[in-house]
Amino acid sequence: MKKDGFFITFEGADGSGKTTQIKMLEEYLVTQKKDFIITRDPGGTKLGSKLREILLTYDGKIAPFCELFLYLADRAQHVDEVIMPALNNGKMVLCDRYIDSTLAYQGYARGLNIDEIINLNNLVTHSLIPDLTLLFDIETGIAMKRIGDKKDRLESEAAHFHEKVRFGYLDLAKKDPQRIKVIDASMSIDDVYNQVIEIIKQFV
Ligand code: TMP
Repeated sequence: MKKDGFFITFEGADGSGKTTQIKMLEEYLVTQKKDFIITRDPGGTKLGSKLREILLTYDGKIAPFCELFLYLADRAQHVDEVIMPALNNGKMVLCDRYIDSTLAYQGYARGLNIDEIINLNNLVTHSLIPDLTLLFDIETGIAMKRIGDKKDRLESEAAHFHEKVRFGYLDLAKKDPQRIKVIDASMSIDDVYNQVIEIIKQFV
């Protein structure tokens, strides 16, 4: 899809620290006087925040396809209401999670078909793919320790689920190294930030 702005997504396992890094990057972009918005998936719209609540707190069993379609429903609204209008206005869009989360979590970890997910995602996003994706990679054990005891529905999945998410992300990065840049998220916050800035400066 044609657009004027620049679309960056931030991906990684729960506990990878990406949300902290987005906040730090926000300060840098303000000093650079960049025209940007920060948003998140799921939950980047009013409707999306209701879907997010279901996705993260519902205490019953959610069928894998139901989960997939809830994430895609959130994304359809998010792209139409927030992301595309901002990109069409020439803004930079920083989005906390997007398609690669769906591929890693619902595809690699839950076992849904990758090509089917890509087709459905293209349908609801009008084939909007990020220009750049930063993948915060971290060993599952360290990430789980960082999360601690207060866990949402996805964070409460077993360690082997999170291992599959990590493997999925790294596999996606291997297949699309132009778009997906892997960052070692096990380092200190400042060292991770230096890696982020190095990459951002090359693209922005
Ligand atoms: P977070 O916004 O706090 O990272 O939580 C979102 C959770 O939803 C996280 O565990 C990853 C998961 N998720 C999916 O399973 N599929 C998706 O498509 C997206 C966007 C997130």
